[in-house]
Amino acid sequence: MIKVLFVCLGNICRSPMAEGIFDKLSKESPLEISHDSAGTSAYHIGELPDERMREMASNKGNIALTHRARQIVREDFDKFDYIIAMDKSNYENILHYKNRINKASETTIMLMRSFDSEKGNLEVPDPYYGGESDFEKVYDILWRCNQNFIQFLEEEHLPSSQ
Ligand code: 4NP
Repeated sequence: MIKVLFVCLGNICRSPMAEGIFDKLSKESPLEISHDSAGTSAYHIGELPDERMREMASNKGNIALTHRARQIVREDFDKFDYIIAMDKSNYENILHYKNRINKASETTIMLMRSFDSEKGNLEVPDPYYGGESDFEKVYDILWRCNQNFIQFLEEEHLPSSQ
C-alpha cells in the first residue's frame, strides 16, 4: 500500500481539494493507494473545507469534500511514503519539522506543482483571500498535477512491462 499525504497551510482549501481529486483519479489506477491531507498550521483544526472549495469540487468534479482539518503530526513522517506540499513555504516548513522531530523518517517530500505539465510556477496559489476564479484555477492546477503524479507513482511502483 502506497500512502500519500497532501499538505497546505490551513488544510481547508488546497490540500483537501488535492486529496479529493487524487481519490477520484487514483480509483482508475491498479495501484493500492491510501491518502489523507493535513495543514502546517493549527488555524482551522476540525473544520470542513472552505465552502467555496466545496462548491467548486461539487460543481466541477462531482466530488464531495468531507475532510476535517488537522495539523501535520510527528507520526505522519513514519506513516506516509509521500508528503506533497502545495507551495514552497509549506515545503520548507514540512522539511524543517521533519528534521526537528523525526530525522529518521524516510518519507519523500515533494512539491505538487513539480508534476504540472504547464511548467513555470512551482506553487499552487493560496485562494483563501481570492474569488471564484482563484478557486477554479486551483482546481484545474490540482487536476493536471494529480494526473501526472499518479502516472509517476505507477512508473515508480508497478513492475515494468518491458
Ligand atoms: P489552504 O488555504 O492553506 O489552501 O487551506 C488557507 C486557508 C486559511 C488560511 C490561509 C490559507 N488562513 O490564513 O486562515
